[in-house]
Amino acid sequence: MFVSKFYRLGVHAAKHLMKAPPLTQRTPYFSVVHSQYIHGQRHQLFSSIASELESEGVNEEKINVTFVDKDGEEMHIKVPVGMSMLEAAHENDIELEGACEASLACSTCHVIVMDMAQYNKLPDPCDEENDMLDLAFGLTDTSRLGCQIIARPELDGLRLSIPGATRNFAVQAKH
Ligand code: FES
Repeated sequence: MFVSKFYRLGVHAAKHLMKAPPLTQRTPYFSVVHSQYIHGQRHQLFSSIASELESEGVNEEKINVTFVDKDGEEMHIKVPVGMSMLEAAHENDIELEGACEASLACSTCHVIVMDMAQYNKLPDPCDEENDMLDLAFGLTDTSRLGCQIIARPELDGLRLSIPGATRNFAVQAKH
């Protein structure tokens, strides 16, 4: 998501720079005029980017999230709005698997939302998520896939338990 935002901002920046006068229009005073023009463009460009970043929430609202591991150890992190819990876990060195990298083809990012009120604030899981949850080890009534929980302001204070095993581990353990 951030990559696409910065890609769009890069295109935006390129469009602004394209508006600079062509080199063929140089005058004896070109360097002064041009540098002022460029300076003006840059000023306009960066203030424009800043306001665009702000309007898109990139300057950056964060929510408090607590992960609880299988031993009961709590890890408190701040997660930017728009980021998935899987990404947030990985950015903070929290051990949450994500074998399929959020393509809804595994259940290794299974987490349990510890508070029913918070669980009820989440959008309903799509069919693909439900299919994967059916395969999750230790499924509960408040289970979700970590890669599908996206930080939103109303989820501030979210608490997620990481199950002690994943389906991959359980399958391997039988052999
Ligand atoms: Fe595979 Fe979330 S990482 S479904």
